[in-house]
Amino acid sequence: MENNTERTKRIRAPIVTVVGHVDHGKTSILDHFRRTSVQECEAGGITQKISYTKFPLIQIKNACPIIDEKGVKLEIPGFLFIDTPGHAAFTNLRKRGGSLADLAILVVSIKEGIKPQTAEVLQILKTYKTPFLIALNKIDTISGWKQNVGDLKKSIESQAVNVTDEFREALLTFQGSLSSHGFDSDLYYDIDDFTKKIAIVPCSARTGEGVPELLYMLTGLCQKFLKEKLIIGKEAKGVILELKKEKNIDLIETILYDGTLKVGDEIAIASFNEPIISKIRGIEEVESLCFKYRNTNSISAATGARLHLTNKEGILPGMPFQTLSNNLEQLKKDFKKELSGAANLDKGGIVIKADSLGSLDALMFLLRQEGIRIVKAGIGNIGKSDLISAKASLDANPLDALIIGFNVKLEEDLDSNHIKILSGEVVYKLIEDLQEWRKKKQLEIERERMMGLATICKAEILHNYIFRNSNPAIFGIKIIGGKLKAGVPLIDETGENVARVKNIQHEKESVKEAIEGQELAVSLTGINFERRLRDKKYLYVEISERQFKEFKKNKDLLSSQELKILQEISDLKRKKQENWGL
Ligand code: GTP
Ligand code: MG
Repeated sequence: MENNTERTKRIRAPIVTVVGHVDHGKTSILDHFRRTSVQECEAGGITQKISYTKFPLIQIKNACPIIDEKGVKLEIPGFLFIDTPGHAAFTNLRKRGGSLADLAILVVSIKEGIKPQTAEVLQILKTYKTPFLIALNKIDTISGWKQNVGDLKKSIESQAVNVTDEFREALLTFQGSLSSHGFDSDLYYDIDDFTKKIAIVPCSARTGEGVPELLYMLTGLCQKFLKEKLIIGKEAKGVILELKKEKNIDLIETILYDGTLKVGDEIAIASFNEPIISKIRGIEEVESLCFKYRNTNSISAATGARLHLTNKEGILPGMPFQTLSNNLEQLKKDFKKELSGAANLDKGGIVIKADSLGSLDALMFLLRQEGIRIVKAGIGNIGKSDLISAKASLDANPLDALIIGFNVKLEEDLDSNHIKILSGEVVYKLIEDLQEWRKKKQLEIERERMMGLATICKAEILHNYIFRNSNPAIFGIKIIGGKLKAGVPLIDETGENVARVKNIQHEKESVKEAIEGQELAVSLTGINFERRLRDKKYLYVEISERQFKEFKKNKDLLSSQELKILQEISDLKRKKQENWGL
C-alpha cells in the first residue's frame, strides 16, 4: 500500500483538453464523465471560456467499469480535463515548449464530420505533436440506431444492415477527410499500433454509449505513452488562464502543470518586459468534479487553482510562471525564448491582437500559413497605438492597413479612420474576412490607378443647409452615389458647369473625399448660391469624353450605382451634343 502511494505521488494527473467544432458535444461528453449537467446550465448551451475539472482515480473507475473488469492497474492519480469553447478552440492552451495538454479528445459529430474549427484544431494538434483520440459523437442520431448495454464493438456489429451501412459510410467519409489532413485513423478496436493510427471511439453523449470506452482508451494511452512525461518535477510550473475579481479580491486563475506550489512561495511570471515577481498569499484549489474552490496551503500538478498574489501588476492571460529560487537569470532567458514566437515579426504587415499568449500564438501560426505578414502582435484590446501602427502601413502597402482582433474588444472612442478593423472569435472567419477585404481593396486601388483623379459622383443639394451664400459658397449635400473628391469640377442637372470643389467638410473636419450616403458641407468659389443653385436639385462630377470611355471600358470595376450615374451624365451630355462619348 505504502509503496503504491509513493508511486502514484510521483506521477501527476495528465491534462486532457476536449476540443472540436462548436456544438459537436464536448461539454456533454464531460458531463457524462462527471455525471453533471453543465451543458444545460450554459448560456445558450455554448461554452464561453475554458474551464477545468479535476477527475480523481476513483471516479475514473466508477465511470469506466471496464478498467476493473480487465484488471488494469492504473498508476495515474486522475485527470485534469479542460473544456474549451468550440468557437475559439485553442485559447491559452500552451506551456513552455508546446501544448499544455498531454492528450486531447477531438470531438466530432458523426452527422457533420470535419468542420472548419475541427480543421483548425487538427493543425494545432499536429504542430504541437499532441497525442489525441477522436470521440465520434452523436451515433444515436443515426436513424434506427439501437442502443445496447455492454460492449461497444458488439453493439456496432449488431445493428440492422441499413444502420450499419449508414454508420460505415459516415465513418469512411470521416476517415477520408482525416487522412487528407495527414492522419491515419481506425476504429479503436481495430488498431494494433497506437503510435501509427488515431483511434476513433464512436459514442453518444446523449445515451452514454461508448463513453466508458472513451475513458478506457484515454487511460490506456496515458499509461502507455505518457508515463515519463508525467513524472512530477521539482519546480512548480504553470500558466495564467484568467484574471478575475470576486468580492473585490483579485484572483489569478491558473493551471499548475508541474511541481508543487505552496503559500509563501515566490513565483516569477513572464511578461513582454521583465518578469513579474510575486509572493503567493493564498491558494484556492478547484474541488473534484465541480467548479467550487477550497482554500489550501499547497497544490500539486496537475490542477486548477486561483492564486492570491502580492503583486499582480501587468499580468497577462496565457503567460507562464514558475517558482523562483535563485534562478531568475535562467528564467529571464527561458521566458524570453518562450515569447520569441510572438516577438518574431515581419518588416511590414498587419497588426494583430488576441486575448492571451496562447491564442496570439495560434492566430499568428494560422495567419502565416496563409502567407499573411504581421508587423505587430500584442495581447489585450485594440487601442490607439495599434491604429498608429496600422496607419504606418497605409502608404507602404494599403492592403496591410488592417487590424485583426481575436477574442478582444475595441477600446472606447476609438476612431478607426481609414484603418480596417476585423474582430471576432473564429480564426477561419477572420482569415476569410481579411481575404475578402483585401480583394475589394485591391480592386479599389487598381481602379484609382486606372482612373487617376477622375471619379463618378452624384450629390443632392440640401437646401436647408446653406451656410454661406458666396466667397466661397458653403452648403450641405448628400452623396447619392460614387465618390466626391476635393478639386473636381461640378456640373448641374442641366449639364452646365458650376465650379470646382474647393473643400469638403465632414463633421467640421476637412476631408479629402466623401462616399455614398454621407451628408457633408462643400465650399465652391466663384459662385453665388442664391443665383446659381437656388432652383437646382442635383450636382454631378464633370467628366470628359475620354474619361467616360475609360470608365466604360472598365465597367466591371464600377458599382451598379456608379454605372447608373454614368448613364445619367451621358444622357445630360447627349442632350447638348448628340454623339458625346460615342
Ligand atoms: P460548444 O461549447 O458551444 O463548442 O459546444 P459543445 O461541443 O460543448 O457541445 P454541447 O455539449 O454543448 O452539445 C451541443 C448540443 O448537442 C446540445 O444540445 C447537446 O444536447 C447535443 N448533443 C451532444 N452530444 C450529443 C449526442 O451524442 N447525441 C445527441 N443526439 N445530441 C447530443
Ligand atoms: Mg461546450
